[in-house]
Amino acid sequence: MMIFLERFAKAITPAWIPRQLRRWKHRRRATDLEAAWQIRREFFWKAFKAFDYNGISGDYVEFGSHGGMTFRLAFDQISARKIKRRMWAFDSFCGLPEASAPADDHPHWKKGGLATSVEAFHRICRVHGMKRDAYSTVEGFYDETLTKLADTDAPVDIALAYIDCDMYSSTKTVLDFLLPRLKHGMIVAFDDYYCWSADQISGERRALLEFLEANTEWRFLQYRDFGWAGESFVVERAEQTLTE
Ligand SMILES: C[S@@+](CC[C@H](N)C(=O)[O-])C[C@H]1O[C@@H](n2cnc3c(N)ncnc32)[C@H](O)[C@@H]1O
Repeated sequence: MMIFLERFAKAITPAWIPRQLRRWKHRRRATDLEAAWQIRREFFWKAFKAFDYNGISGDYVEFGSHGGMTFRLAFDQISARKIKRRMWAFDSFCGLPEASAPADDHPHWKKGGLATSVEAFHRICRVHGMKRDAYSTVEGFYDETLTKLADTDAPVDIALAYIDCDMYSSTKTVLDFLLPRLKHGMIVAFDDYYCWSADQISGERRALLEFLEANTEWRFLQYRDFGWAGESFVVERAEQTLTE
């Protein structure tokens, strides 16, 4: 016991504590990341299984693609199934925009945060075995890209809209873009639905609540939650919704 204590005392140099803290932080991050992959893998499996089984056509459209984790998970499902679906990545590829509304306020949403260049994104996709002609990237901030697309511009037929752009104003622009493209049976998923600020309803959830209030012809049926912050919905026409 004494020998052990002597050795332990010798090992504790001034650099020991910060080194241990770094290791613990690294391990915690690795565990969080592994859980994030597993949970989303299961979500994508369920969503694409439901599309196939129910005969729902349409593309995979992602708003917020950054490091390509969710894009790769969606690709794994699409490439393993019969129904062909194009994939779309809408991102500034230079990180989050500046906050433009009080509901964008959040300790983790900072201008330029979560940036991956489009070249790095293509590299990530290539390493994962994705051919360049299997997907499209649309570079730029949504208020400059999505707002310029006409209702008839592709992508028009969407099975899964995966919204992972965190902020209220980004999500609001995305939902306005999706409005003419909504169809029965598609799924709209929000990666950060339960991220909110300390004193108000904000972020993706606020954008959806306002959207549904303004567009009462559509209902979003709660489908699956995933992870600690994700929620998804199946789209239904309000006139067809039966009381539960
Ligand atoms: C949380 S990250 C996406 C993570 C990604 N799904 C993954 O699995 O790696 C959020 C992304 O949304 C993008 N983003 C947020 N608001 C945007 C906007 N208004 N226009 C374009 N891109 C936006 C950011 O550039 C960032 O890459």
